[in-house]
This record gives sequence, C-alpha cells and structure tokens, in this order.
Amino acid sequence: MYSFNMREVKNIKTDHFDVAQSKVELSNLAYFLRRFLIFTSTWLSYFPNFGCKIVIGLTVGFTASALSVINNRIKGLITIGEPVFFGKEEDIDMYFNKIHKETNKENIKIFIFCFINEFIKYIGIIKNNIDPLYDYNTCLALKEVEHYLLQIRTILEDRRWDDTNNPYYFKFPSFKKDINNYYSIWNENLLRPELLDKPARPNCLILASKSDLYVPQSELLKTTEGVKKSLHFIYSEIEICAAEICARNIAEYGDSMPIEFTFDMAYQCIDEVRHAMMILEYMNYYGVKLGDFTYTNNVWLQYIKGDNLAEKLAIEQIISEGNGLDSCSLTLTSLRKIEKLEKLVKLYEFLIADETIHCRHGNKWLSYIVSGNDAEYENIIDKAIAKTGLKIPGRAPIYVEARRAANYKDSFIEKRLLPKL
Ligand SMILES: [Fe+2]
Ligand SMILES: [Fe+2]
Repeated sequence: MYSFNMREVKNIKTDHFDVAQSKVELSNLAYFLRRFLIFTSTWLSYFPNFGCKIVIGLTVGFTASALSVINNRIKGLITIGEPVFFGKEEDIDMYFNKIHKETNKENIKIFIFCFINEFIKYIGIIKNNIDPLYDYNTCLALKEVEHYLLQIRTILEDRRWDDTNNPYYFKFPSFKKDINNYYSIWNENLLRPELLDKPARPNCLILASKSDLYVPQSELLKTTEGVKKSLHFIYSEIEICAAEICARNIAEYGDSMPIEFTFDMAYQCIDEVRHAMMILEYMNYYGVKLGDFTYTNNVWLQYIKGDNLAEKLAIEQIISEGNGLDSCSLTLTSLRKIEKLEKLVKLYEFLIADETIHCRHGNKWLSYIVSGNDAEYENIIDKAIAKTGLKIPGRAPIYVEARRAANYKDSFIEKRLLPKL
C-alpha cells in the first residue's frame, strides 16, 4: 500500500501536476491500455497453442484491472461528465498502427512484452510528477496499475516472451510535459487487428462432428478413462472457447458498450483461462494431454451463430453457462459419492462459484441492451435457441439457488426453467 511520509510532503515540489495535468496523463494511460486490450483480445484467437492463449487471457484480465483503476481515478477528477480516453503520444499510436496487420506470432509476442515493459517504465516517470499529498489518490491508483502490469511482465518473462532482438522492439518517447500537445480522442476508426471467425487450433487436436461425451457425468466419472475424457473435454471445448468468446466480445463490441462491459468480459476471460490452468493440473495428474481425444469446437461454433451481442450473450452466458451451472451441480453430487475423486470436488466448487458470476454478467448486459424489457429479453433467448438448437434448461435438473444468484429473474425461472406440474 502506498503511503507518503511527512518529509516528502514538507519538501513538496511546486511543479507537480495540477488536476488538469493529472487528468490528461491518466486519460493518456487509459487510452493506450484500452488500445492494448483490444489488440490482445483479438490476438488471443490467432494463437493455436493453448498455452499462448492462456498467457494472453491473463494479460487481458490484468490489463483490464489496471484500466479499471485508472478509469475510477479519472472519474474522481472529473466531477461532471463521462471519463475521456485520449492519447497524446503520437509515437505510441504509431506502433499500434504499424502492428495492426501483423499475423506473425513471434512478432506479436514481442510487441506485447515491449508494450508492458515500456509502460511500466512510463508509469514510473509519471509517478514522480504526481503530488503525493494533494493527489494521493492518483499515487495510489498508479501503484495499483503498476502491480497489475508487473504481474503480466512476470508471466511473459516466465514464458520467454521477452526476446528483445525483434524488429518490433520499441521505446516510449521521452516524457513530455506539454499537455496541450497533439492528442487523439478514442474512436471506432482506430486501426485494429482483423477479427477471426475461426480461432486457430493446434494440429494435435482432431475435430469430430459429434462428441462421444454426452453420457451422464455420473457414469463417465466411474472409470479413469471417463475422467480423462471429461477433463480433456472441459479444457479443449469449454474453458478455452469461453476465454476466446469473452475476448471476442471485448474486441468486437467494447466500443459500443459502456466500458464496464469490457471489464466484466475481461474478468470472465481471466477466470476461464484460470479454469483451463486448473483443469490442466488435473490432466497432468491423470496423465492426459491435449489431443488424446477428439473435440467438436461446439461452444465456439454455437456462439458465432449469434448475429449480434445480445444473441451471443444469450447463447453463451445465459443459456450455455446457465445450463452448465445445473450440470456442474449434478456432477458435484456424483463426485461427492465417488471415493478417490474428492480432489475434483474442490475444483467443481470453485468452477460453480465463478460460473455463477459469468451468468450474472450475461443477464446484466442483456438486460442493459433490452433496457430491462422482459419480453424483449425472452425474445432474444428464443432467437438464440432457434439459431443454435440449444435447450433451456439443459439435461440436468435446475439448480435454483445458483440460478437466482446468477440473477435469472424469479418469473423467468418459473416460466422457463422449472418443470411444469
Ligand atoms: Fe469456466
Ligand atoms: Fe464461464
């Protein structure tokens, strides 16, 4: 936790930022973090390697956390009106413009590392110009931002994404104090990488038209082979696809929604890659590796059938993840009865907790899009069902408490989820 000391306050420099300068600098930082977030969210689908997808998913989540802290501080400095995002460092914009068509994964990796590394240095420079007494809250915010970015840098260094012999190595321009310098306001026409409708997959994964997994989990989990299949399924079909979906939502719809939507999707994205990492631990434990079984890509293929954000939220967060709450609860009941599988109980308990929040995000943002109109909400659900063939509820009996916690309305639960007597 940042704290100023009395000596520092006594020797206060007169050239520290005033409110306007602080606001401009924070807005500038926010602008570039937001741009970085859109680029990384789009690039997640470019990488066939699941390990790389996980690294980018973590980067997306931590970057959004940093952006959220800055956004809150800007709100504290602007008493009227929406926070603004503008960038005054033309040179940094140029690096983004230059790399937006890049598809070479090694170049993308090094850009990500260089951006984070340089950004950390840049924040250090700005921190020296912040008044520790008057602008204590900005000091605190920047400390927190630094913390998130350092987390990313450590992950990137661990995975050796820090090769500096690359053409995309760049440095932030030296810090300029002229706040009236050029700046560009955030807009939808900023260059960005192309979205992929078909995320890259590793060669070892073999696509099958039909999954052989649709047997009751309680049966499947009775054999070690079944447990292996189940873990492979969750890793390759559920968690990685869900991370890709959240990232896609940020990249495609972030501009047309309140910034909080981007934050929610990024927090879900980091949850999904964490889930993938959790599952991976069990895959290693049980000796199963990616490609040992086939996959269908069904979660992604269903999502992409949505024609707009409302339908996509209905397909993934509201219908699929909602049904997932019910089936996870059923699996948990089975697991508790099977000796030797108690390790998986903890896993499923955490999965259910996180998935409840994901469904809540779906309900929150679909309700926002339909302005709280229940009939329109149902109409979107029906369209999603018609396009995908999904069913609501799914096969498992509904877990009412979780559905309520996920903000499905009581009227909806009664009308659409509970069995008719
Ligand atoms: Fe998940
Ligand atoms: Fe989820």
